[in-house]
Amino acid sequence: MICKKRVGELFLKSFKDQYANEAKVQKQTAKRLVEGLSKIQSQFERVLELGCGSGILTNEIVSKLEIEKLFLNDLSDICELIDVDAEFIIGDAETVNYPDKLDLITSNAVIQWFESLSQHFTKVAESLIEGGIVAFTTFGPKNMIELRKTLNVGLDYHSKEEITELLSERFEILLEEEFEYKSLFTSAKDVLKHVQKTGVNGVSESRLTKSKLKQFIADYQKFTTDNGVELTYNPILIIAKKTT
Ligand SMILES: C[S@@+](CC[C@H](N)C(=O)[O-])C[C@H]1O[C@@H](n2cnc3c(N)ncnc32)[C@H](O)[C@@H]1O
Repeated sequence: MICKKRVGELFLKSFKDQYANEAKVQKQTAKRLVEGLSKIQSQFERVLELGCGSGILTNEIVSKLEIEKLFLNDLSDICELIDVDAEFIIGDAETVNYPDKLDLITSNAVIQWFESLSQHFTKVAESLIEGGIVAFTTFGPKNMIELRKTLNVGLDYHSKEEITELLSERFEILLEEEFEYKSLFTSAKDVLKHVQKTGVNGVSESRLTKSKLKQFIADYQKFTTDNGVELTYNPILIIAKKTT
């Protein structure tokens, strides 16, 4: 079970520290998502972004798309971090009420934190107009696989096939992409620091005892290559159109 209060706190802390420097993957996925989206449709009337955080995707959509009315959601009160003309809906995206008649619901690196993707997609379908678009990025099962293998921590990531299957009842898939690549670090400890700075995975170095940290560093040796210490990222990108 995900402790949403803690997720919100960890992210808020990271946004105030070094998230912007460390979140290179999130910047790439946001850019790629909006590139894909603008080829399909670039004008929207009512847009909701879920889990906007410090605004990496927000900045992409407001600069590359034409949006009449923008609603921004996050678990944490991030209003002061974002300088765009928008209406904020603070709270858990799985339970807050969404505005109606939306023609785009979007998110970048957010829905992997949700308890039920199936319920989420039903909610998304109900809030979109017919022909409305859902466009998001998330992560697949290989994401940070090294942390699962060493610390036994990680989210229950869904595969691209599981996600598209869940969507297929009420959506037509317009774009689906999956990537897998390794980020390189100088040490296992740096991997841990990076994960903390991006607020992800619920891993906190301070929660590791000295002996566990030592064990982690020893176990992580197997992910060391001539080029550096590896951490896998497995982004998934989906754009789909509501059919019914
Ligand atoms: C990895 S950050 C991504 C932030 C932003 N979308 C970006 O592109 O950088 C994940 C964000 O999702 C938010 N989040 C996680 N679970 C959420 C939920 N249930 N409802 C709303 N926001 C949530 C977190 O607070 C955090 O801001």
